[in-house]
Amino acid sequence: MHEPLVDVKCLRHVYPDRTEVSLCGLELEIQPGEIVAVLAANGAGKTTLLQHITGMLRPVDGSVRVFGLDPYEDFERVRTRLGVVFQNPAEQIIGPTVEEDIAFGMGHLKLSSQELEKKVEVILQRLGISHLKGKVPHYLSGGEVKKVALAGALVTGPELLVLDEPFSQLDMGAVKALVSLLRSISREDKTAIVFTSHQLDPVALLADTVYVLHAGQVVTQGKPIEVFQQRVAFEQTGLQAPDLFRLVDLLQQGGMKIHADLDVEKVASEILAAAGL
Ligand SMILES: Nc1ncnc2c1ncn2[C@@H]1O[C@H](COP(=O)(O)OP(=O)(O)OP(=O)(O)O)[C@@H](O)[C@H]1O
Ligand SMILES: [Mg+2]
Repeated sequence: MHEPLVDVKCLRHVYPDRTEVSLCGLELEIQPGEIVAVLAANGAGKTTLLQHITGMLRPVDGSVRVFGLDPYEDFERVRTRLGVVFQNPAEQIIGPTVEEDIAFGMGHLKLSSQELEKKVEVILQRLGISHLKGKVPHYLSGGEVKKVALAGALVTGPELLVLDEPFSQLDMGAVKALVSLLRSISREDKTAIVFTSHQLDPVALLADTVYVLHAGQVVTQGKPIEVFQQRVAFEQTGLQAPDLFRLVDLLQQGGMKIHADLDVEKVASEILAAAGL
């Protein structure tokens, strides 16, 4: 087992207006190349957790280690090894054009302008947004802003990607394309990914491990299928299990002998077999 890239223990944060966010219970660890989803209802503390991992906030209690360092104290050293997409990515796009914005994020790499241009071109192509290269970011659509922010996060080849709601505002085709891009990045480059999402289909397809936050605790950790199968416990957190799991659960309660699965075709063939069709 490697030393974890990220290790968060019993985090407690107090905002200036005294709102307290506490995430105790299970320890959150991310290994190199691991894809971790953090799930919770609105206001439970997902963004707060990610902001501690990226060193933007400092905990009142508990510990946060990233690459073995304190991300708040060693902000620059940690930040140059991370790719980050904020929940509201418009806040992080500061260049006058898309191309310049993405190149700006590589300032610390000391590359020539040709090398910068090449890297920008490659990443725009990988995300299918080459046509946005010369655009003024202010005029981009919501989904386009998200993709440009992702391009900026990926272009440096980070060891860890921190993505706050990367799938919101994307159409279904773009969600699928992003799932397969993130999977290939994690497999080929051994990039670890931690992301939040209120859409559970991409979580099921992408995450190796899911953490569920509720009432100031990290309440569950496991593979997506294990977590979604604990349907009642999962739904007590204010979330709803994917429809496929609800359907299988209802059919099992009705006496049908089938298994829960992430794959809709596998479930369909089990239902057909159980129904003798
Ligand atoms: N800057 C701030 N000042 C005061 N309170 C804050 C601040 N940022 C967040 N909070 C509060 O902290 C709590 C956790 O917020 P956070 O944004 O981490 O939730 P979240 O799980 O990301 O929610 P969502 O699903 O809506 O994105 C909320 O009660 C929120 O109101
Ligand atoms: Mg949030």
